[in-house]
Amino acid sequence: MSKKIIVTGCNGQLGHAVNDFYAGSDYECVNTDVGELDITDVDAVLKFAREVKPYAIINCAAYTNVNMCETEKDLSFRINAIGPRNLAIAASETGSKLVQISTDYVFPGDEDKELTEFDKTGPVSSYGFGKLAGENFVKDFADKYFIIRTAWLYGEGKNFVRTMLNAAKTNPSVRVVRDQIGNPTSAVELAKCIGYLLPTDNYGLFHGTCEGSCSWADFTEEFYRLAGVTTPVERITTDEFPTPTKRPAFSKLDNYMLRQTTDFRFAHWTDAIAEYMRNEQK
Ligand SMILES: NC(=O)c1ccc[n+]([C@@H]2O[C@H](COP(=O)([O-])OP(=O)(O)OC[C@H]3O[C@@H](n4cnc5c(N)ncnc54)[C@H](OP(=O)(O)O)[C@@H]3O)[C@@H](O)[C@H]2O)c1
Repeated sequence: MSKKIIVTGCNGQLGHAVNDFYAGSDYECVNTDVGELDITDVDAVLKFAREVKPYAIINCAAYTNVNMCETEKDLSFRINAIGPRNLAIAASETGSKLVQISTDYVFPGDEDKELTEFDKTGPVSSYGFGKLAGENFVKDFADKYFIIRTAWLYGEGKNFVRTMLNAAKTNPSVRVVRDQIGNPTSAVELAKCIGYLLPTDNYGLFHGTCEGSCSWADFTEEFYRLAGVTTPVERITTDEFPTPTKRPAFSKLDNYMLRQTTDFRFAHWTDAIAEYMRNEQK
């Protein structure tokens, strides 16, 4: 009999990648997005989990518009913090495993160093604050959990890569920041990591990003090169591109706990984006 996995936020980037990963496997994805299961509603979450009795819950749902999190503070907190809390309560009650996805934005990112799971958090945005609260709720309420902090995620759906490829079609040049450094991470790679950890009892907090780091400008130049796009990238500073959200300048995550406890390795970001672009161009 197949093992049931409740996938929340199934219409998002990671939701798609998780479904692709488990397609044709011994696991059955019970897919939900906000229409079927609003993770902020504790009663609905508990009722659904009691009915399905899942082997695991993979929470791919989130409020990911970082700028909007500053204006929609309460709503984003409900989705990014109360949502995982509700899922953790449900996972605990049904004896299920829980995968919660978190972010590099839990860090202030004011030092140029690679951050491990043991570095001090200190979010500088509402998004980071809500996601960190979500992590803490999961630790408080779930027994068997994997919290995976990822970063700069791209996959099926609306994402930075597609936005910048479209921008290149209509602009003589594009302006991209050169002084924020991080780990562009493919949702496909993150789904593989989830698939690796889920059957294990290797619980806890993990950093899970593609290997290597770069700036947003470097990243853009690389996928433009792969796509044969010749639109010039104007490499600007964060100060030249003001947004409502303060962002970590350095958020290079080190997958320290994955290296210490598993033989799972993420692809390098240059290989992962090359694979993504090959599929985009099919
Ligand atoms: N994207 C990134 O760069 C990035 C970076 C670091 C970490 N992460 C984390 O990675 C995870 C996956 O992100 P993603 O990029 O795949 O997200 P995404 O593409 O924005 O998808 C999130 C999904 O959750 C749904 N959702 C929103 N509110 C909900 C609710 N109350 N109940 C149920 N579903 C709800 C969204 O629906 P609507 O579209 O209708 O709102 C959407 O389908 C998230 O935990 C995110 O915080 C993402």
